[in-house]
Amino acid sequence: MENIISLGLEHVVVAQTDLSLVDGQNGLLVYRNHWARDLAINHTFEEVAHLLWYGHLPSAAELKALQDKLVAQRELPAFVKTALDAIPADTDMMSALRTGVSLLGTEAFAAWPPTLEQVISLTAKVPTIVAYRYARLEGREPVNPRADLDHTANYLYMLKGEVPQAAHVRALDAYLILTQEHGLNASTFAGRVVASTRSDLISSVTAAIGALKGPLHGGAPSEVTEMIEAIGSKENAEPWMRAKLEAGERLMGFGHRVYRTYDPRAKALSTISSELAGDDPWFALAVHVEEVGLRLLKEYKPNRPLNTNVEFYAAAVMRAIGLPDALFTPSFAVSRTVGWCAHILEAASGRIIRPQSTYTGVMPE
Ligand code: ACO
Repeated sequence: MENIISLGLEHVVVAQTDLSLVDGQNGLLVYRNHWARDLAINHTFEEVAHLLWYGHLPSAAELKALQDKLVAQRELPAFVKTALDAIPADTDMMSALRTGVSLLGTEAFAAWPPTLEQVISLTAKVPTIVAYRYARLEGREPVNPRADLDHTANYLYMLKGEVPQAAHVRALDAYLILTQEHGLNASTFAGRVVASTRSDLISSVTAAIGALKGPLHGGAPSEVTEMIEAIGSKENAEPWMRAKLEAGERLMGFGHRVYRTYDPRAKALSTISSELAGDDPWFALAVHVEEVGLRLLKEYKPNRPLNTNVEFYAAAVMRAIGLPDALFTPSFAVSRTVGWCAHILEAASGRIIRPQSTYTGVMPE
């Protein structure tokens, strides 16, 4: 059979999944028979995680059971805290998170195929690792997780050291739901590649975190705020962005491998962030930057429909609830852990992923 070359694996299908549909032509996102947008408005982080892991939205009793299990698993083992404390302060948050998750890879997580108990334990601990590390960097004593708070509220509580406002919890919950799952994006694919070798859950998720960190994937939102701050004023938006495009550089928060129309997650997050931001001049500038960016991308890349992606307004939501840039990508990891785990469970009995490369080097004499 002849090999097919697809750089970046564009248009290549390597898995069948019941988890989500990403319809890039029509800008639609479905999680198991539900519109992701509706789930974000009407449900909670735990309910949507239940949907992805167990296949259906939970009954009241099922939800309580999942919540109780997550709460019981939030604490970090002492050796993980000690190791996190030993990581140099200038190590970025995603590298610290990757290391923290990797440390969890003890006997408790060794079994293959991975179990739902492993998945719940890991999902419960990821926010605690992020918050623990962040508190230390801020020079604060990390607070213990609070059993009376839901997943998202507890995450915000641990980050800020105080009980968060309900509106902030709701906005972050919507963001975390909208980013729990998204087909075979680069990080999920990385996790599925490792899972396809029948390694283990922690190794698979550690690989996924490494992929998420990159600025072309989950690392984009902090670059969006940097871009907006560098632009600084409405008048400077067009010359600044034009100069970037002239230099062949990319505008962060725009473009997507699958979406050829507006990213539906960006649409939902733009509404949420506009409600939270009120008359914040930063938000007004962001909206202007988006308008100018879309216009210039049409001019510079007429053959490639480039639209706003989720990361543009993810930055706006997180900024509006008072999270600094350093927490943008780690917060994305908090949510995407749900989708990574769902894919790893799904892929546990699949075929090893093993594409080929074409040799372009020199042959020996
Ligand atoms: N700004 C300017 N040009 C762009 C952008 C952009 N944001 N995105 C794509 N292009 C251009 C490329 O330069 C290329 O042009 P060319 O054909 O003239 O060389 C063309 O569009 C196609 O680019 P590819 O890299 O092949 O597109 P791909 O679909 O592989 O990349 C990606 C998708 C990585 C998201 C890209 O659009 C990008 O780099 N965007 C900016 C970073 C970003 O916002 N990432 C977050 C994505 S959402 C997420 O991961 C959760």
